[in-house]
Amino acid sequence: MLTSTLENAEKRTTPLFNQEDWASAYCNVEKELENVELKVVKGEVPKELCGTFYRNGPGQLERAGTWVHHPFDGDGMIAAMKFKNGRVQLSNRFIETEAWVAEQKAKKFLYRGVFGTKKPGGILANAFDLRLKNIANTNIVKLGNELLALWEASSPHSLDPETLKTNGISYLNGVLKPGEALSAHPKFDPGHHQKKKKMVTFGVKTGPKSKIRLMEFSTEGQLLFDRKDIFNGFAFLHDFAITPNWAIFIQNAIDFNPLPFILGAKGAAQCLSSKRNGQSKFWLIPRDSGQFAGGNPKIFNAPNGFVFHHLNAWEDNDKVTIESIFYEDFPSIGPDQNFREIDFDQLPEGILKRCNINLSNNEISTEILSNQCCEFAMVNPLKQGLRAQYSWMAIAEKKSGNGPLQAIKKLNLLTKKECLWSSAPRGFVGEPLFIPREHSHKEDEGWVVVLVWNGKRSGTDLVILKAEDLKEEAILELPIAIPHGLHGSWVND
Ligand code: CO
Repeated sequence: MLTSTLENAEKRTTPLFNQEDWASAYCNVEKELENVELKVVKGEVPKELCGTFYRNGPGQLERAGTWVHHPFDGDGMIAAMKFKNGRVQLSNRFIETEAWVAEQKAKKFLYRGVFGTKKPGGILANAFDLRLKNIANTNIVKLGNELLALWEASSPHSLDPETLKTNGISYLNGVLKPGEALSAHPKFDPGHHQKKKKMVTFGVKTGPKSKIRLMEFSTEGQLLFDRKDIFNGFAFLHDFAITPNWAIFIQNAIDFNPLPFILGAKGAAQCLSSKRNGQSKFWLIPRDSGQFAGGNPKIFNAPNGFVFHHLNAWEDNDKVTIESIFYEDFPSIGPDQNFREIDFDQLPEGILKRCNINLSNNEISTEILSNQCCEFAMVNPLKQGLRAQYSWMAIAEKKSGNGPLQAIKKLNLLTKKECLWSSAPRGFVGEPLFIPREHSHKEDEGWVVVLVWNGKRSGTDLVILKAEDLKEEAILELPIAIPHGLHGSWVND
């Protein structure tokens, strides 16, 4: 009895992480490498895993002693890890955006950042400079022969999939107008209609009314469907979900007051705030490849809270179900806060919830799938838009409340049974990517790959887990340090 009390007391006092370890990941990526073989420090890389793991995220966080105000303002840098015959080679390269090239030359920041980074020179130097710095840092996907570095407020950059060299801004063969926004969260329809795979994505232009352009492309990059819908109200739409017949959005109840942005005091994203007594909405747009093509969108009240990312959605007769990560409030970093010193206990946690929308009687029901703070959740890509049994996600080590992401969870969405792998106390995980084993009929057969910040050696590790039970397959050390990043994708050979 005494021993167990002591053990519990010890558990309570052992810190789950050290803030300095977590913050040490915020550094500039110093080198660009080409096909450098990674050192395996544990286990073996599965030989069946053949393809490339592309990952995007901020790589430049400081210039001439000036730091970004928020890591999301860091310039995009791509890491590409090529898997072949049990070996992995790394290449990494910055995206040569117009702003990055100019700032490299000037050796200082020349642009303001959306999340509050200011040019040197105080408010006066920043006021009325409303140029958008397209930093291409959010996601990286392959469409046709192009590798697209995505940033949701503007057009994508096209890169060479082999050399990662930037070819320039892509208008997707004339589909996008110059400067037109394209979401950083395309969804890959695994073959909902005649087994033809598609990329479904959107662009949003917002203001007092919001215009959503919904586009579907063949995997070769040809535009197949294109529709535009106008909704009332301001919308901040980072992600969406698809089913065979619907594209589903959540319009968070938030307001945008652009004045501090125009006057140079805040970044555009810092001007977003929760709308008091606001009502979130589901916006369902019929997919033109589906059975309601050409029909009107449907609008329903959504649970309150703020959503960046969705896990998945599916249909069952007249019921549409969507699973999303809800925050109690819009999390932002104020103008006087230092992002390295954020107090996780003060931040709302991300909770995975399932919402059922009954299309015939407008009834909405919500259930919590897991109470543990999570982000970056995904299902088997072959189950995108269909009912999935399993999901993989990054989670905080703490059982409740917010905390840095340190572990990976496999969650059975039917039974709620969980399986965990943790890098705590000194590791911090990025987005886990599930890669299905080819020709497998088991939904959870495959691997999970993830980049982990290793606080002990101040470097980045590539971790490969068996997807079924999250058993460690291999750990490889990268010879560069990559800051906590954003999204990525897997391209089979
Ligand atoms: Co995202």
